[in-house]
Amino acid sequence: MATSFEDVRLVGPPSVDGEYVALGDSELVHLHDYARIYAVPGLYEHVVQEQLQCRSPQVAAEGFLRAVAGARLQPSSLTVLDVGAGTGLVGELLLRGGVKRMVGVDALPAARAASVRDRPGVYSDYLIGDLASGDSTLLADLRERGPGGLVSAGAFGGTHAPPAALINALALLPPGAPVALTIDERWMDASDPDGFGVAVQRLIDQRDLEVVERTRFKHRITTTGEPVFYELLVGRTAS
Ligand SMILES: C[S@@+](CC[C@H](N)C(=O)[O-])C[C@H]1O[C@@H](n2cnc3c(N)ncnc32)[C@H](O)[C@@H]1O
Repeated sequence: MATSFEDVRLVGPPSVDGEYVALGDSELVHLHDYARIYAVPGLYEHVVQEQLQCRSPQVAAEGFLRAVAGARLQPSSLTVLDVGAGTGLVGELLLRGGVKRMVGVDALPAARAASVRDRPGVYSDYLIGDLASGDSTLLADLRERGPGGLVSAGAFGGTHAPPAALINALALLPPGAPVALTIDERWMDASDPDGFGVAVQRLIDQRDLEVVERTRFKHRITTTGEPVFYELLVGRTAS
């Protein structure tokens, strides 16, 4: 990739109104302005993976492969749904891990464009839509692809997808399907009625989800260097 990143600088502090990336002297981009960041080949990977040391794609992919092994399935036998697939980092890792068929879904057309541009062939299908919206056409299109497992890295909570997206995605899977996802630990706070802590517990209580691993890990650092902790949830849909 020929792009030079000499002019790229991280800008904080996160506590004011979020994290920014300066692209040269004249453009300040919010870290979550994915449409802008995805538009530059390799910029997401340079900022988020390299400078901010994000580990969620690796942690989610490895967790998913453990869930597959725990369910005594072969990675090659599954169509895996990657929720909030972004530029395709998770898909690429799972392909290396033996998965043969990946379906990506993301709310942003710019994500699919970046994935096709930078990682062609990783996803057999990459659909665009907001999984939280309950859009029946999107859900039917995804169900038609026959997803047999779900993986998601850094796409739930905060400015990303709310619990409804997780509930909708899980409902697409058959019983006993392997699942692995990472969520900001702040959004797992059990005292927040709208957060993922309550939603995940409800899924467990209703026997829609069985969680076999719940691990805290350093997801990344902020633009000013503080650690951000996420939880990895590994499990399966109820049999
Ligand atoms: C932090 S990025 C992570 C991308 C990729 N999973 C990775 O680890 O590199 C989060 C992605 O989730 C997508 N996203 C957020 N809310 C969504 C929703 N409701 N439905 C589908 N995708 C969503 C965003 O557009 C963005 O591409």
